[in-house]
Amino acid sequence: MTFTNFDAIPRDRLPALLRAMPKAELHMHVEGSLEPELIFRLAQRNGVALAYPSVEALRAAYAFSDLQSFLDIYYAGASVLLKEQDFFDLAWAYLQRAAADNVLHAEIFFDPQTHTARGVPIETVIKGLDHACRRAHQELRISAKLILCFLRHLSEDEALATFEAALPYKHHFIGVGLDSSERGHPPEKFARVFDRARAAGLHVVAHAGEEGPPEYIRSALDVLEVERIDHGVRSVEDPALLARLAKEGIPLTVCPLSNVKLCVYKTMAEHQLPALLAAGLKATVNSDDPAYFGGYVNQNFVETFAALPQLGAREAYVLARNSFEASFADAAAKAGWIAQLDAAFAAAAQ
Ligand code: HPA
Ligand code: ZN
Repeated sequence: MTFTNFDAIPRDRLPALLRAMPKAELHMHVEGSLEPELIFRLAQRNGVALAYPSVEALRAAYAFSDLQSFLDIYYAGASVLLKEQDFFDLAWAYLQRAAADNVLHAEIFFDPQTHTARGVPIETVIKGLDHACRRAHQELRISAKLILCFLRHLSEDEALATFEAALPYKHHFIGVGLDSSERGHPPEKFARVFDRARAAGLHVVAHAGEEGPPEYIRSALDVLEVERIDHGVRSVEDPALLARLAKEGIPLTVCPLSNVKLCVYKTMAEHQLPALLAAGLKATVNSDDPAYFGGYVNQNFVETFAALPQLGAREAYVLARNSFEASFADAAAKAGWIAQLDAAFAAAAQ
């Protein structure tokens, strides 16, 4: 650790520092950044009928009891995405918000099967998203990469067909992930397609231990050989697993507002992020589906730190530093970002 003078940063400076500090975002589903206003704009542009009469009525429906109750609305919202321009507009809107939150690097999930099932070619999806990532690098100075996720409620054969269809565009994404309904769909269901992805030189991550049991985190590591666990908060139920995650330095991409909205925890005060950090895990803070869960990455940081007095300037630094170290960027990029992080903390300690 380079910066060490945490005692020089009073608690009342923390919210501003959390917003200003440079960070990476490693767990954000681009379809989950589709704001109600853009849903209505795209529905009109594409002549798609919506089940809700207004932006306000749609937003009012965002009250979830668990992961599935969210996914039903999330897939319905994505039905307005049809053209390459739509996918560009979606990712561009997110990247502008991320840049405003001082995100220097974003690794963005997308769900091609949500779109190919409606007849949208995978090329349309990938080209639109990739165009936004390239433009963001030029104009917003933000580094943005894509990670293709398989929907785990569908079959492995469907995931394999999706992977084959995406291979011609492999240079546009850096890895594969696994999302959607977790319970009843263990990681090992996707052993073959993850073998193929690793053999193709892609990075591999998976959602595990959000609603599913700690055993799903173990099989994501042992069978899929993932490099990071998305969510992973249920690891706190299994001390041996916690020790393994710490020892092996496996990053966890934690999403605090998501966990509260989807009732993994009743309140933010019950969130286990402090326990994960205390156990020495390489945890990070991310927004998951910011249009649905009440905010982008800075909102996650500010609300989490406000609710949990165990989290102070030291934890802010560790979380931001973890976000760069856990990224799939090269060592030189990581070192440059961490130098910027150190500078932001040194300024806050003045
Ligand atoms: N979990 C699983 N699938 C998802 C999520 C999530 O939090 N967000 C979007 N797809
Ligand atoms: Zn997620």
